[in-house]
Amino acid sequence: MDYAKEIEKLKKEKNAVIMSHYYTTGDIQDIADYIGDSLALAQQAAKTDADIIVLCGVHFMGETAKILCPDKKVLVPDMAAGCSLADSCPADKFEEFVKAHPGYKVVSYVNTTAAVKALTDVVVTSSNAKQIVESFPADEKLIFGPDHNLGSYINSITGRNMLLWDGGCHVHEKFSKTKILELKKQYPDALVLVHPECKESIVSIADKVGSTAALLKFAVNSDKKEFIVATESGILHEMQKQAPDKLFIPAPPESGACNNCEYMKMNTLEKVYKILKDETPEVLVDPEVAKKAIKPIKKMLEISAKLGL
Ligand code: 13P
Ligand code: SF4
Repeated sequence: MDYAKEIEKLKKEKNAVIMSHYYTTGDIQDIADYIGDSLALAQQAAKTDADIIVLCGVHFMGETAKILCPDKKVLVPDMAAGCSLADSCPADKFEEFVKAHPGYKVVSYVNTTAAVKALTDVVVTSSNAKQIVESFPADEKLIFGPDHNLGSYINSITGRNMLLWDGGCHVHEKFSKTKILELKKQYPDALVLVHPECKESIVSIADKVGSTAALLKFAVNSDKKEFIVATESGILHEMQKQAPDKLFIPAPPESGACNNCEYMKMNTLEKVYKILKDETPEVLVDPEVAKKAIKPIKKMLEISAKLGL
């Protein structure tokens, strides 16, 4: 079956929109109406007039879209596509942590379950975390969760001293500094692009630290021709598309050739076709949880809009 063609037909019939994160496979990115980082996907979901959103990414992204669009049908191609970072922050344990620190405001990365967002004052993504943290008064006491690496990085560039939850992404934690430095010897002119979910040792050798969208923009606009990319390898598809004359080399992990998120790679064209045809199972969020979780998500979108992000 020509899945791309069938998906296109169903999309029109059902007034559906397909959104995809940069970490999915190239064939999915190629049929998506929107490709983006976590912030862009939330922004697109908030303003779409489609009746059905197919979110090709992981489950928390579908939840965020559903919270923003409670009257729309939100589908993810594989409901089992989770996220090790979201899993590293169980809502009951996070609630205990928050309760143990009265007087603290809670800043949560978007890679969290709806239940964790419901305990949060403002959600951030890697595209806006610095600016949103800086929007709090300098003496505001802040908790940041769940990504410890991102929290440490934001502390280091803002001079804050946020209390950090000890969570992490198994994909971004795997990069090898030794192997990246070996690659640099082979490609001495290459710039090292690093996602802030990576360990401090990797951030320390970066020429540019940023969200997937920021790394993409930097690489496309740079006058350099070679880049070693320390984030999930799916982003290389769009980098190569937007800058076909440049060389993008996936940064090596401790073992293996490049770093794939097995959850993101659970999205396939066949599954996109099937979920759009069947429209079930759909992503649902407990309305009580959604009522609380929408506030910090909207706050993030409002601050981002004000800052032009
Ligand atoms: P961004 O898309 O915000 O860069 O986040 C990366 C990520 O790990 C998404 O799961
Ligand atoms: Fe989660 Fe990491 Fe996969 Fe992103 S790359 S979805 S943070 S496990």
